Amino acid sequence: MSSMDSAQELPSRPIRLYLHGQLQQIHDLPPDLSLLQYLRRHADSCGSKEGCAEGDCGACTVLVTRFAQGELKTASVNACMQYLGALDGCAVWTVEDLAQGGQLHPAQQAILDCHGSQCGFCTPGFAVSLADLQLRCAKPQRAQVVEALSGNLCRCTGYKPLIEAGLKMQDYTPQTIFDPATLTPQLAALHDAQGASHSHPRCTLFAPRSVEQALRLRAAHPDACVLAGGTDVGIWLNKQLRQLPQLLYLGKIDALQEIHSTEHELHIGAMCDLNRFWLSMRQHWPQLEEYHQRFASHPVRNAGSIGGNLANGSPIGDAMPLLIALGARIELGRLQDGRIALRQLALEDFYLGYQRKDLGADELLLRILLPLPDGQARALFVWKIAKRFDQDISSVAAAIHLHFAPEADGQRRIHSARIAFGGMAATPKRARATEQALQGRWWDEAALAQAQAALTQDFQPLDDLRASAAHRMRCARNLLHKAYLQSGAGLPAAACELSAASAEAV
Ligand code: FAD
Ligand code: FES
Ligand code: FES
Repeated sequence: MSSMDSAQELPSRPIRLYLHGQLQQIHDLPPDLSLLQYLRRHADSCGSKEGCAEGDCGACTVLVTRFAQGELKTASVNACMQYLGALDGCAVWTVEDLAQGGQLHPAQQAILDCHGSQCGFCTPGFAVSLADLQLRCAKPQRAQVVEALSGNLCRCTGYKPLIEAGLKMQDYTPQTIFDPATLTPQLAALHDAQGASHSHPRCTLFAPRSVEQALRLRAAHPDACVLAGGTDVGIWLNKQLRQLPQLLYLGKIDALQEIHSTEHELHIGAMCDLNRFWLSMRQHWPQLEEYHQRFASHPVRNAGSIGGNLANGSPIGDAMPLLIALGARIELGRLQDGRIALRQLALEDFYLGYQRKDLGADELLLRILLPLPDGQARALFVWKIAKRFDQDISSVAAAIHLHFAPEADGQRRIHSARIAFGGMAATPKRARATEQALQGRWWDEAALAQAQAALTQDFQPLDDLRASAAHRMRCARNLLHKAYLQSGAGLPAAACELSAASAEAV
């Protein structure tokens, strides 16, 4: 199929979105223009600020409402990393939409009353993040406020009054930002079943609606950059100023958003956003709560997808060590003789070297398949070592999954281990020599020492500004030790509970 054919398959039309409740038809702007640039330069909405332009500061936080599977879904995102073509069919709400009829929104009033603003540069972002929290939760607890603000930086006020404002919001009369009864038919009318493309001399964005359409476009345009949530691609556009003349956007394919479980497996669509991904993982492995919170920030997780995290294949990506340790497989698709051809491989085999993956130019990552807990004696530990709790990049991420043999003499014997690390090599990597050192061994200090020694066969860690090679190796050894202590090694079985649910993530 020629590129002309496949482009024709998706009708080219202007980008249509609602801004401040008004329909905008955007004919003359490139689909790779960031929402923040659009707001500030073209839509006379300068309330959202640009601090970092890379998702780190939250000064640009806005709300985006999508119409998907018959319902409205609203989420906070960073406008600096949203791109116009990917917002076709959505409604965007900014800080300008919070106060209504001369009345401040409870989030704004609470910031004012709690003295939560000094220079004010960060304030629009904080107000929108708190308004988003109020949409999700009428009476938030402190931990929920802190989590909601994980993507907002303030360099002068200090966080105490802002957290107080988040708790105080509930004292004021709630205020709606939009009326769902009005918005639902408006967005439903923009919903097109056949997909579309948005063209501009600088960039064309294809937005297919089915996996088959996407694979056809992938084959016809092997150089097009696949765009999922854009939280990695956005760095290339905003910071590296890369020209990406063609974007293949996957966000309108409902099938790639699905999560479901069979009797033994969890199946997760590649376009599932990171908050949904972590929430569904926590249903099966509750100890992942803290790891979820430490992954980026709330708005970055709303935008970014699990497929994007795996396909990006960064050596310091956080989901891969965990998924490798849990035995995940991935499903890749391509179009062959006009039909979808699928292949599956173990996640660890996807990574061939630094920035090299076993992904054909005509293939897409479609699904992640994960064995569910099987009721056997297992312990799962996952830790992220980084300088800050929120919104920081791992120096080392470790996932240690131990399967214990049936008890003998009250001691624990390791039947098998799956261990994977991020930040220790050019790719996320399974620690096969370390696993081997533990297999079939009593879980005692001698086995621990051998496993720690085996780490040097598995890894020659990265040495960079974030952490030295020696520091990373020491972290990896100490995390094995921590798993040893937390799994109650050497203690009689009754003294510790080794189910996955009880192992603690720190
Ligand atoms: P995109 O940026 O859209 O795409 C990423 C790459 O994958 C691109 O090469 C794209 O072409 C390719 N791709 C996407 N989907 C597919 C597919 N289905 N098939 C084939 N190729 C595909 N990551 C962490 O691991 N931990 C963190 O704590 C973390 N913190 C972050 C904080 C900030 C402020 C930012 C900006 C990013 C952070 N990230 C972090 C990185 C990023 O958010 C994640 O990697 C995210 O999962 C990327 O997903 P995405 O949907 O945004 O991918
Ligand atoms: Fe900093 Fe967007 S400008 S997160
Ligand atoms: Fe100045 Fe927050 S009030 S950055």
